[in-house]
Amino acid sequence: MKFDTPAGNNPIDRQSVVGRPHTRIEGPLKTTGRAAYTYELHSVAPDYAYGYVLGAAIAQGRIASINLADAKAAPGVLAIVTHENGGPQGPGSFYQARFLGGPEVDHYHQAIAVVVAETFEQARAAAGLIRVDYTRAAGSYDLAAVRGAAVPAADVEDSVIGDFDAAFGSAPVTLDEVYTTPDQTHSMMEPHATIARWEGDRLTLWSASQKVTMGAKEVATRMQMPQDHIRLVSEYVGGAFGGKGAISADAVLAAMAARVAKRPVKLTLQRPLITNNTTHRPATIQRIRIGATRDGHITALGHDNWSGNIPKARAERATISTKSLYAGANRLLRDRVSRLHLPEGSSMRAPGETTGMATLEIAMDEMAEKLGMDPVAFRLANDAKTDPDHPGRPFSSRKFAECLRLGAERFGWDKRNPKAGVTREGNHLIGMGVASAIRGNHVSASGARIRLEPNGAIIVEADMTDMGVGSYTIVGQTTAEMLGVPLERVQVRLGDTNYPSTPGGGGQQGACSVTGGVYAAGMRMREMVAAKLGLDPATADFANGRVQASDRVFDLAEAAKTGPIVAEDRLEYGDLSKRFSQHVFGAHFAEVAVDIYTGEVTVRRMLAVCAAGRIINPVTARSQVIGAMTMAIGAALMEQLAVDKRFGFFVNHDMAGYEVPVHADVPHQEVIFLDGLDPIASPLKAKGVGELGICGAAAGIANALYHATGARVRSYPITIDRYFDRLPRPT
Ligand code: MOS
Repeated sequence: MKFDTPAGNNPIDRQSVVGRPHTRIEGPLKTTGRAAYTYELHSVAPDYAYGYVLGAAIAQGRIASINLADAKAAPGVLAIVTHENGGPQGPGSFYQARFLGGPEVDHYHQAIAVVVAETFEQARAAAGLIRVDYTRAAGSYDLAAVRGAAVPAADVEDSVIGDFDAAFGSAPVTLDEVYTTPDQTHSMMEPHATIARWEGDRLTLWSASQKVTMGAKEVATRMQMPQDHIRLVSEYVGGAFGGKGAISADAVLAAMAARVAKRPVKLTLQRPLITNNTTHRPATIQRIRIGATRDGHITALGHDNWSGNIPKARAERATISTKSLYAGANRLLRDRVSRLHLPEGSSMRAPGETTGMATLEIAMDEMAEKLGMDPVAFRLANDAKTDPDHPGRPFSSRKFAECLRLGAERFGWDKRNPKAGVTREGNHLIGMGVASAIRGNHVSASGARIRLEPNGAIIVEADMTDMGVGSYTIVGQTTAEMLGVPLERVQVRLGDTNYPSTPGGGGQQGACSVTGGVYAAGMRMREMVAAKLGLDPATADFANGRVQASDRVFDLAEAAKTGPIVAEDRLEYGDLSKRFSQHVFGAHFAEVAVDIYTGEVTVRRMLAVCAAGRIINPVTARSQVIGAMTMAIGAALMEQLAVDKRFGFFVNHDMAGYEVPVHADVPHQEVIFLDGLDPIASPLKAKGVGELGICGAAAGIANALYHATGARVRSYPITIDRYFDRLPRPT
């Protein structure tokens, strides 16, 4: 089915299941320990051995010698894989770093050996007996030092519109500041893990992945084998946040190890290895320039962003939100990237948007102050009516101003003293901050298969994954709505390349893409059922488990009484995403309290107002948004990988050294979804919302912290040392 004209009235509009709050249907399996993550699977390949990864102890250079003798002789050891017997390694597709190093070492903790043994403990003990001598080489590890040698990022175009220099030069009010964001690591609870099993030249992988089709492709190019010889299964994923965007090193290492050991192999990346072995969000340096008229209209908008990476890897595209958010006729937005020899940087938690909005929205706060304007009013004054990046192109829908206005009203913004650093409650300085939110709405072609069994059972299959986000539930809801049955009647099967392919989870496109595929398969099923029952598919009504046309009524199951009906289809998209700019919008508000003696900050309240078309499930959508808001607390106040600039690695590579918010850090959080449909975005008239909650939210906290203290901090995370000596004196 092709989606190339805006959606008209369709079966989803009944909203008897879609659009209603349903808790996650796999919840009981999670809370009773029956939803098995990859490493907890025991029976899929019962004779598996254990793999243990040895990571390189240098960032750049060569293995001068590696002595495996003691390890090979250790109890239980079955095989040791190195670059010498691992087999050919082709290029990556989504990720670029080589998964098995040697003799050259490309980055710290790159795998250089996998020990396979009967037990995990034996494999680990033997790995400790491998002796490696290295010849270190020099590398570049300091973004600030290599920024001058940056080149344009390959995967994003500069936005050069009007004459920025002239407009900025003549603007009566200007801002020109530099902001920084640090390297960050995903910190998902479930470590990367894989079980690999070969049957002849066919490979089955059970591996934690956000995108199984993409994951199989990654394995195929790297192992130089046909993609259709690979089955990838990822039934439950314990968080990913962009870090399992395809498959990671564990999948290829386990496959190599299983081939060498001639046994299925189960392997996980041990926690301290994950940070430097896998990908991270790259640090950025961003210069933002804004020129405006005295009454607060932006005339010039400049955003220069520098990040570093390995060759061919994805740049941290911090300017992408700046492109479409605010009006302003003269624009200069550029992403630049330098060669660094740190581990590969890649997607993490709304890549680009999070980092760019974290800085742009501080700059907007600073600019409002220079203009003597309220920060909400300044943003409203620069609401873009059409897409500034494509002059004249309309938005599919844009309820940005409504989000700001409603948020201000609900948050009590009118009680905020416009002056910073003066609101006190006892020993605490109190501040309120606002930030805008925008995130691209991307949908991709997606398939689904629905089976109606003779006993009336309904089974839906798609290779979409569920990282804990609610995919199972919304796929079930969409199927139920399409066929007019209650949610309980639908069995949902996901996360297996044997099912129709989807883009998987990521880029907040999973929910809308996969439900679009289910819509297409659902329409096909309705036609097949109507034909079986001799009804006109155009007028047949599917409701309450029955199918009705004029005066004839059947049980839905009647249609399958002579054999199951299988309906498969795929939703493909036309050019609506080129004719209309598609984004979701929001507004973030935060209130903080800062201890005037210690400088400690507590986030007291957060509010997000989101406009994202139809909300398919208000419970799971809200969970996504508050999770993202929680990540914004981390981004604003805590999260930072410390780079060792001499030896080239991330020092705090475990969950003791890398701080993320815990329950005690999470304040009262409220999410409001604005009513409204977006018929241009998808047949469900819905848009992705999962990552909107982090876009801008860190700046909302940063602005609240400034409002509380009067001390502006332009480097994340905003730790106490960055503002303590500027706190107002306790009096
Ligand atoms: Mo998310 S970083 O787009 O998986």
